[in-house]
Amino acid sequence: MPPAPFVRSGKSSRTTDSPISYFIQKAIENPGLVSFAAGLVDEGSLPVEEVRATAAEILSDQLAGQAALQYGSTQGLTALREQVLKLVCDADGVTPADVNLTAADVCITTGSQQLLYLVGEILFDPDDIVITEAPSYFVFHSLLQSHGARVLTVPMDADGMRTDELEALLDRLRRSGELPRVKAVYTVDYFQNPTGLSLSVERRKKLVELVRRFSTDHRILILEDAAYRELRFTGDDLPSAKRFDTANEYVIYTSTFSKPCAPGLKTGYAIMPPDVMEAVLHLKGSHDFGSASLSQHIASRLSASPAYARHAEELRGVYRHKRDVMLKALETEFADFPAASWTVPAGGFYVWLTLDGIDTGTTSPLMAAALEAGVLYVPGECGHVADESGCVPNNEIRLCFGVATPEQVTEGIRRLRKACAALSGSKKKVVAKV
Ligand SMILES: Cc1ncc(COP(=O)(O)O)c(C=O)c1O
Repeated sequence: MPPAPFVRSGKSSRTTDSPISYFIQKAIENPGLVSFAAGLVDEGSLPVEEVRATAAEILSDQLAGQAALQYGSTQGLTALREQVLKLVCDADGVTPADVNLTAADVCITTGSQQLLYLVGEILFDPDDIVITEAPSYFVFHSLLQSHGARVLTVPMDADGMRTDELEALLDRLRRSGELPRVKAVYTVDYFQNPTGLSLSVERRKKLVELVRRFSTDHRILILEDAAYRELRFTGDDLPSAKRFDTANEYVIYTSTFSKPCAPGLKTGYAIMPPDVMEAVLHLKGSHDFGSASLSQHIASRLSASPAYARHAEELRGVYRHKRDVMLKALETEFADFPAASWTVPAGGFYVWLTLDGIDTGTTSPLMAAALEAGVLYVPGECGHVADESGCVPNNEIRLCFGVATPEQVTEGIRRLRKACAALSGSKKKVVAKV
């Protein structure tokens, strides 16, 4: 007789497997597949030599080696926190003092994902409201689902989240008496996962102004996820939303060494208001009482060295080339396909493809035809949250050019077009309004 079931916590029973597991499994089952699904980084340009040299430098010094192999503090290595603060403030064109920040406002985390998790833990009770872009980073949505939080969404255009729509939404919530439940606005404001779009400077200012204005009886926080910021390959960097939070009150800024350096280091960081920091540190204390020391020591030395800047520059070239190859392949293959349109990212590694009238969902004929043709993508529906009627838009696709080689990118888009051709005659599906 099987044992009686164990009794899950409320949070565990609300937590489901990430949709990405399905796609990783498919890629493992079909090694010939070109995968545009998983958001992995380019393999060939991982900084093996730079990390080897840095680790050797640390471990060849007895005292430095001991420090790197010992437990560290919950908040993270001071040298790395100082380095991170410099990195972000230099990018924003300010001094830490201009924006009321010191290294005490920085926390090192086990990837930026841990920060998202910890912030979720300190902020959300069931039925609390979180506002996100539509679409948004689906792993964050899964996290919100396990908290039982209500996700309300704001549409995007070429300049990122529509702040006029955000204002209208906040206004509606105030009038319906639900504003007290709004805890945070989440934005992936640089080359967003999944659309590749960025928030314009004007809207960054407006975002901060809006949360300030609507924080009447409690503070609404902005969770600014800048994971892809350093991977810009065209145009000038944009100041962060954090840059406009000059008293360090409203914005939690998080980013990571995973994208511009190596996800294997699993080292991320966050800059946040002191009271939020206190709550995060209490929780991180019982979570892991500090992220891996060795990774932090490597990230600290590496990010302060010229090798880091050289590597980031090289990476930008690698991803620019892959983006160009993907855009060219889309233009060639979908030239005769007016239903197709796509974004042109200025950085990061995602292109968002819209196929008007074609169901792109996990169980759709297109997904089956794509697998048959040998290409894998993430259905756009994974990035959306169902509206009141339970509908999500189902005619979009996230294409990641992070890990595929340029040759695979060209071949994968050819296969995707072949899959679309195999569907000719398929009926237009109803697409829910976001
Ligand atoms: C938007 C976004 N935020 C956060 C993360 C987490 O990255 P990490 O935990 O490796 O820093 C990812 C990873 O793909 C991401 O796409």
